[in-house]
Amino acid sequence: MTSNGRDFRTIGVVGLGTMGAGIAEVFARNGYDVVGVEVGEESLERGRQHVQHSTDRAVKRGKLSPEDQATLVGHITFTTSLEDVKGCDLVVEAIVEQLPVKQELFRRLDAVVGPETVLATNTSSLSVTEISTSTSSPGRVIGVHFFNPAPVQNLVEIVRTVVTEPDVLEDVAGLARSLNKTPVICGDKAGFIANALLFGYLNHAVAMYEAKYASREDIDAAMRFGCGYPMGPLALLDLIGLDTAYEILDTMYKQGRDRLHAPAPILKQMVAAGLLGRKTGRGFYTYEAPDSPIVV
Ligand code: NAI
Repeated sequence: MTSNGRDFRTIGVVGLGTMGAGIAEVFARNGYDVVGVEVGEESLERGRQHVQHSTDRAVKRGKLSPEDQATLVGHITFTTSLEDVKGCDLVVEAIVEQLPVKQELFRRLDAVVGPETVLATNTSSLSVTEISTSTSSPGRVIGVHFFNPAPVQNLVEIVRTVVTEPDVLEDVAGLARSLNKTPVICGDKAGFIANALLFGYLNHAVAMYEAKYASREDIDAAMRFGCGYPMGPLALLDLIGLDTAYEILDTMYKQGRDRLHAPAPILKQMVAAGLLGRKTGRGFYTYEAPDSPIVV
């Protein structure tokens, strides 16, 4: 469990929603002790259930034995007290995507943990640098961007700020490898690597559709059958959620001023009209019920 320098053993995960519960599961599955923190008893129970259901599925698929599932769950302590991350070697934050809320949490974490503890954020679009400045030692703050669902997706983007200590970067990359993940390292720019490239492409597909250059089916078929992508860009946007996609593009555009990221106007119109994709039953395509196959 040793990476280059630090001996990471106990990992704090703050926020046990979609991402945090998955991240806690990944660490526990690889033998780390995890302290999972939530704001209240109800959300804590939801986090616990999330881990339970996710590992139940792994058992059903034969990817985890019932004994290993029990060991995995036994590695996680569930708590509503932030003080309980005191002895952690690394704390990963996975709470709501709002800068002031994350900054307040990092201020509190800074006061709770020891000087050697690495503080990481799973933010997808906020500035890791701005989060780090709310602590007394920004050099130990880093981005670790897991992909959804964390137990399945292999990639972890490790985000260094201009002041992240090189040994922190090296140790965290080693830690990601110990989870059987592939770490990639990048600077602190909205979208990091994967989303910066992906969302420019998705936005371009929307612009093509908006200009009536090609039909939605043909745009999607071109990328599936011509480029081997598992999904076409418009179907993928329906899956991500058009509201989420708009927010990500807007953040990237405001930060980088790259025209590629200026959200296609129709995207905002669809969001305003409530056509958010699968979750509302209609986006670029129409769905019978949320998550059902494409019907129209
Ligand atoms: P979520 O809304 O599912 O979960 C957030 C959880 O944090 C909630 O359970 C909430 O009760 C808890 N929380 C809020 N404030 C807290 C506090 N002060 N202390 C402890 N817990 C607190 O959100 P999700 O989707 O898991 O996102 C979390 C972070 O991960 C965000 O920064 C997001 O940008 C990032 N992310 C999300 C991805 C996704 O596909 N959903 C992918 C990669 C990163």
